[in-house]
Amino acid sequence: MSKMDTEYLEYLWPMRHYLVTCGDEQQPNIIAVGFCMPISREPPMVACAIGKQAHSTQLIRQTEEFVINVPTQDLERQVYYCGYHSGRDVDKFEQTGLTPKPARHLATPIIEECVAHLECRLEREVDTGDKVLFIATVLDAYADADVVRGERKPEYALGSFPEKVYGGRFQHPNNENKERSTEGDE
Ligand SMILES: Cc1cc2nc3c(=O)[nH]c(=O)nc-3n(C[C@H](O)[C@H](O)[C@H](O)COP(=O)(O)O)c2cc1C
Repeated sequence: MSKMDTEYLEYLWPMRHYLVTCGDEQQPNIIAVGFCMPISREPPMVACAIGKQAHSTQLIRQTEEFVINVPTQDLERQVYYCGYHSGRDVDKFEQTGLTPKPARHLATPIIEECVAHLECRLEREVDTGDKVLFIATVLDAYADADVVRGERKPEYALGSFPEKVYGGRFQHPNNENKERSTEGDE
């Protein structure tokens, strides 16, 4: 089978999407994040890559905290709204109807409608290119009681590849889309 160069990101989908809250009670914000993963079990740590230009980057740097809220598939519309709009221009809680609720340890609110919440304290950041990788300790994690007890199996938000965010901007490292034969006789 011949192979073609492609957009590398597209083939990492489907990807779980999260609604990361940042800011505080006075100025809360929500950002849709796919680039998020656990990086240590003991201590519990996570990393989220967020665009340098995002309003959320500014807020996370100010407060040194954020919450990873886990949405279910029925919140897909809200996930995409938060992914296509900036908190610089709109109040995403107001526009999506999502409900901010006080977190257990942080000034950053959680999102009531999400199924699980990871309260995170920023430890350090790493410049990764167009994004900043925020490395954080998970201070607390909790979820809807019926889900924790195994009485409900949530259908998590996977979403499709967000073309509007990544489509068109990507430049393949080879800068061309050549078809390559497996024999290497291109
Ligand atoms: C499904 C989806 C996933 C996204 N994942 C990320 C991500 O992992 N990192 C990122 O920086 N932006 C991601 N975005 C784009 C941001 O959510 C978007 O730039 C947002 O408008 C930034 O909001 P802010 O300016 O309020 O921080 C994603 C968007 C969508 C729709």
